Amino acid sequence: MKHIFKKGSDLSNPTLLLLHGTGGTEEDLLPLVDHIDPEVNVLSVRGNVEENGMPRFFRRLAEGVFDEEDLIFRTKELYEFLDQAAKDYGFDRDNIIAVGYSNGANIAGSLMFHYQDALKAASLHHPMVPRRGVELPDLTGKKVFIAAGTNDPICPAQESEDLKELLDGAGANVQLHWENQGHQLNLGEVKAAADWYKSL
Ligand code: MLT
Repeated sequence: MKHIFKKGSDLSNPTLLLLHGTGGTEEDLLPLVDHIDPEVNVLSVRGNVEENGMPRFFRRLAEGVFDEEDLIFRTKELYEFLDQAAKDYGFDRDNIIAVGYSNGANIAGSLMFHYQDALKAASLHHPMVPRRGVELPDLTGKKVFIAAGTNDPICPAQESEDLKELLDGAGANVQLHWENQGHQLNLGEVKAAADWYKSL
């Protein structure tokens, strides 16, 4: 997958996996790194799917309606990419913390829904429930930060509550943070995510 890797001050540090929103690229979330942890390794990936020229991490049938078959396929593809990238660059495969926005948050959520060992933790900005009616792996010990908007037109507030409940139910430790700036990735939630990260 097209990506950027930046080694941190030490390869044994955590690796932030950055996952952009629809129409974004692997450059988009790089400015967040300094807010979260300037010492960290960074693996920023571009989604492999295009929708009218806009990169995404999986196909959708309509806004908010996911192509489940493609979601499962793309989730596996990203999971395998992470395994390979850890070998190629020498970072700790078991210490990956995802930071995803919108479509990127949805594939990060999907990694957790499908694989017990995909991520150590995840900061999900304006995510949706990636799939319903499936059994999640045991996520005991995993930490998740969800930044949601009370007035997000793409991810209704109930969707964020449902996601928290499903992850909690699988044993994850979930912190839900509310903003009121619609679907925007805003500084308030980035600061809250940085505080969450320090507590890991
Ligand atoms: C998605 O398709 O992942 C969600 O609708 C969010 C978006 O990318 O617009």
